[in-house]
Amino acid sequence: MLTKAPKGTMDILPQNSYKWQYIEEEIRKICKEFGVKEIRTPVFEHTELFQRGVGDTTDVVEKEMYTFNDKGDRSITLRPEGTAGAVRSFIEHGMFNDPQPTKMYYLISCYRYEKPQAGRYREFHQFGVEYFGTQSPATDAEMISLPWMLYKRLGLKNLTLNINSIGCPKCRKEYNEKLRDYLKSRYDDLCETCKNRYDRNPMRILDCKSSVCKGIVKDAPLLIDCICDECKDHFEAVKKYLTCMDIPFSIDPLIVRGLDYYTKTVFEITAKNENSNGTICGGGRYDGLVEELGGGYVPACGFALGMERLLLTMEEQGIEIENKQKLQLYVGHIGDENSFYAQKLVSELRELGICVDRDHLGRSVKAQMKYANKLGVKYSLILGDDEIAQKRAKLKNMDEGIETEIELSAKTIAENII
Ligand code: HAM
Repeated sequence: MLTKAPKGTMDILPQNSYKWQYIEEEIRKICKEFGVKEIRTPVFEHTELFQRGVGDTTDVVEKEMYTFNDKGDRSITLRPEGTAGAVRSFIEHGMFNDPQPTKMYYLISCYRYEKPQAGRYREFHQFGVEYFGTQSPATDAEMISLPWMLYKRLGLKNLTLNINSIGCPKCRKEYNEKLRDYLKSRYDDLCETCKNRYDRNPMRILDCKSSVCKGIVKDAPLLIDCICDECKDHFEAVKKYLTCMDIPFSIDPLIVRGLDYYTKTVFEITAKNENSNGTICGGGRYDGLVEELGGGYVPACGFALGMERLLLTMEEQGIEIENKQKLQLYVGHIGDENSFYAQKLVSELRELGICVDRDHLGRSVKAQMKYANKLGVKYSLILGDDEIAQKRAKLKNMDEGIETEIELSAKTIAENII
């Protein structure tokens, strides 16, 4: 128990973290290009924020939150997603007073008590972006273009972008009535959670994971057929903007998303792979959330993508990530006396920006070089009595096996390392 990570969590090991860092670098780069700045919010928030924000009839709030009372008897929840915290911060810091739109991104860990399986964890990581203060359909399309562009840069293939419009509270009210009418005759067959949702929020039934409920809603009326003219126009314009950026999409009227705050545009990006066909990114517009959480009316939209699912998809698609974290040089030494010289030299080389290491285990020089080989370093150099006395050493290119004799000084060594 003690030496096993809790179910649904995993370690990102030192030999794999370069993959995460590569993706995070690409994310920071693309966000800079889009003028989106990073926000960092706490891992935990008041439970009520998620109940009100994500919605208390959603699976996330009803079944999946890590909620506990702290020592001051406050109900606290580990964030199951990033939008609610970003909105809370937007309101708390009066960001509506800043020039709009406010664009922010986050790279965070999230917590959901779900049944772990490939691509589904209890602790997972999201990259998300939120745009506040604009209701333009151009914003919806631009926001969708960001993960699309990122995936393309990372080399992902076989992606599908599905979009839908789930209307505004006005059209949804009418739709909810239609849906209740449709479900009325099958009410007794619904699962207990969905019976409870029938009056409070029947749309959530469309998203239920139970196979019986899935069967019941199969032929339910579609929300997209009931949206008002304003929502229709908005959706048409989003499609036009996506088309003008050459982003291919399909309309999927069944997308409702698992969180309550969405209005108008919703979307999901899925990757078709041999082993999985999962949603790797999802989001949409949420014009009512800032107001719902106590701010004024501020239209907004955003998305989040799962980092683990992204890495899994890249692996499945055979996309290799170059490990740029390899050491450039290994400084070996012969005899205990020369250990001091080796330490001084690696220290000077590091000051010059060279990635270099030396022996820390008192190994023989042969064992040191074996270790250097395992590390995959490009160059090695051995310090014996002669090298130190004559201030000359042989710099060996490990790939090519070529040795070059050079002056034994950090500056000259650094100049010869490419
Ligand atoms: P979401 O669809 O719940 O949306 O999550 C976004 C992404 O997080 C999913 O597409 C998936 O890649 C990943 N994800 C979700 N749950 C798990 C899990 N248990 N294990 C691994 N990955 C997971 C949101 O969270 C919204 N806040 C997105 C958003 C931002 N909407 C507007 N702004």
